[in-house]
Amino acid sequence: MLDGEEGAVVAKCMKLLVKLGEIYGAERMVKIGSSQVAGVSYKSIGEPGLEFLRGFAEEGTKVRVPTYLNPAGMDLENWKDFGISENFAQKQKEIINAFKKMGVVITCSCTPYLLGNLPRYGEHLAWSESSAVVFANSVIGARTNREGGPSALAAAIVGRTANYGLHREENRKPSILIDIGGQLKTNADFGALGYWVGKTIKNRVPYLHGVEECTTDNLKSLGAAMAASGAIALYHIKDRTPEAKHYEDEIKNLETIEFFTEDLKESYDELSDCDDPDLIVIGCPHASLSEIEFLAKKLKDKKLKKSLWVCTSRCIKVWADEMDYTKIIEASGAKIVCDTCMVVSPLEELDFRCIGTNSGKAAKYLPGFCNKNVFFADIDDLVEKGLK
Ligand code: F3S
Repeated sequence: MLDGEEGAVVAKCMKLLVKLGEIYGAERMVKIGSSQVAGVSYKSIGEPGLEFLRGFAEEGTKVRVPTYLNPAGMDLENWKDFGISENFAQKQKEIINAFKKMGVVITCSCTPYLLGNLPRYGEHLAWSESSAVVFANSVIGARTNREGGPSALAAAIVGRTANYGLHREENRKPSILIDIGGQLKTNADFGALGYWVGKTIKNRVPYLHGVEECTTDNLKSLGAAMAASGAIALYHIKDRTPEAKHYEDEIKNLETIEFFTEDLKESYDELSDCDDPDLIVIGCPHASLSEIEFLAKKLKDKKLKKSLWVCTSRCIKVWADEMDYTKIIEASGAKIVCDTCMVVSPLEELDFRCIGTNSGKAAKYLPGFCNKNVFFADIDDLVEKGLK
């Protein structure tokens, strides 16, 4: 492949991966089970990104492993309802078409593991969206570095990646123990913990002790926030994540820090800088069917006075439609937004001032990426605000 026997694009991709491997000390390549490609929104990649993808697609390049796509910059069907300009929509559609031509599945979601791209324990991957990466490594026990958009696409095209970083056992060991005092109840609580862990230990592998009950949705929120505030791509939780049991002896000698109820409260305060949201956004990472069901129960027979968007994948929305959750949610005045999210869409161009969210990751990113103030709260508080 490197010598060009399979064409110029394949050689270019292999060259990129070999170079990365050399930089990070890989001794060999490993085959991957799947890829997940970020860098899809026209807002993030702009004209140079579109040119690059167009070039690859026109060469007839195809991915050789299942490859799923990250959120785009708009709802691909209802973009007009969200104030997206014709020019932006046109460019975004061109990006999507280029990916489609290469055989990338147009899932437009950061939760590929909820949509049929479910890796197995120990499987090597090349995923790139930070919340998906930390979920795959920690909750599933698969192995992926946080790839950039181009390197994830290159890995999808050659079916391999370089064996460094979190692909190797020795880099998956925890280096700090975090003792959790107090009970965490909601996705927002887990997001606040994730935010605190990320900003406190930055880029290390934590071993969490004391998380009593947790759902898959809680872990999805936790990892997303850790990745956003501290670039963490792997965590272990005693009795909750699959690799934790391998490190029970090692953690006895680790540096330990504690997380108290006051830290939880402080994280909520740090993530908020307004308290009167004019737009509420749920679904970062993209909402699961159970989160949508929960919201439908809360909004049944109610009328919202504020805007509320639920960001999810089109695939999950099909199930929500089938179960009448969409009908209930939309009857309250809320909207289900597919294929995109509050951070990668051009929200800064819309006339909202204070954004309410229960996501630690969105709360961390919205001020910088979209120039908005944030009210970070649990879903019950957000709905209450929305009804006033
Ligand atoms: Fe997903 Fe967007 Fe949040 S990509 S993790 S919903 S910032």
